Amino acid sequence: MLILGIETSCDETSAAIVKNGRLVLSNIVSSQVNLHKKYGGVVPEIAARAHIENIIPVIRDCFDQAKKKWQDIDAIAVTYGPGLITSLLIGVETAKTLAYVKDKPVVAVNHLEGHIYASWLKPTRNFQFPISNFQFPILCLIVSGGHTMLVLMKNHGEYRTIGQTRDDAAGEAFDKVAKLLKIGYPGGPVIEKWAKKGNAEIFDLPRPMINSKDFDFSFSGLKTAAIKQVKSARLKMQSKKEIADLCVSFQQAAVDVLVFKTIKAAKECKVKSVMLAGGVAANKLLRRTLRDRLKKELPNTLYLAPDISFCTDNAAMIASAGYFHAKNKDFTSWQKLEARADAELGDSP
Ligand code: KG4
Ligand code: ZN
Repeated sequence: MLILGIETSCDETSAAIVKNGRLVLSNIVSSQVNLHKKYGGVVPEIAARAHIENIIPVIRDCFDQAKKKWQDIDAIAVTYGPGLITSLLIGVETAKTLAYVKDKPVVAVNHLEGHIYASWLKPTRNFQFPISNFQFPILCLIVSGGHTMLVLMKNHGEYRTIGQTRDDAAGEAFDKVAKLLKIGYPGGPVIEKWAKKGNAEIFDLPRPMINSKDFDFSFSGLKTAAIKQVKSARLKMQSKKEIADLCVSFQQAAVDVLVFKTIKAAKECKVKSVMLAGGVAANKLLRRTLRDRLKKELPNTLYLAPDISFCTDNAAMIASAGYFHAKNKDFTSWQKLEARADAELGDSP
């Protein structure tokens, strides 16, 4: 089964063609980073305008790269939410129009569900996976620019949120700290780069809520602590060394909390697999620390993380999630399809 995926929930315009939910035949991502860089964050109106300009060329490129034609496509999967409403609308209206004109069924995909299925994607035909099938129950740590959640997945489409951030998302905290340090946007990759040259012993940052009894997180406190350090007399000069030292401490504190709570939840919920998902899953320290801690403390638990190229927003993950719905004929008629900024994981569209 071939699914065309469309993703426009934030600032990437993306289209992909994926075979049987796994093999990526094409995945075109047109990033708007350069447009939003100077504002230090995504400007919704600019994002929506860029999506309008890019969506048709991106879809065309994705057909060309996959060497497929419309008649090969079985269904269109599109992100309907959550995300920026003005951005979501472009993908949804495009999908509706194409579904009508090309007479294809539509699957409405939740963006977070898409991130979960990113671990399932095969970037090349020869790519070897540790698994041939999902091993449920799976504990998913979803960490992105808008969300930080621990989700228990008992089967395809069965989600229960057991913990989440009470304030900022993990990616949002990376972005805000980087903005304050004036080191670039998006914050995650730049902080990771700077952290390589830093000394983790210089700044002592807190691990908010690490000992709370629940599985919730708080990243606003960590961000504020980092900001206080930046504003302190010592950091006024903002030397390269100080920036690197702050980045390494901030990254370590964020990773410590995420990994600690994930391991705790995995033990309590007795899951078979632990999965990392979302843009922050691209962080190498997070990937390595979670993998090593799992190996040590829960050696029989399978560790799943997407290929780095599928961590941040892309349409291949939407096509993969769409495949599992399409297999069950879980379609939404194009007349009823609507973008929903506040869609929740497990909601029906
Ligand atoms: O999933 P995503 O592409 O968009 C949302 O759905 O929000 O995630 C974007 C977020 C940004 O906050 C970005 O700073 C963060 O993911 N991110 C990272 C890394 N790469 C992207 N955070 C930490 N380390 C990274 N290497
Ligand atoms: Zn995302």
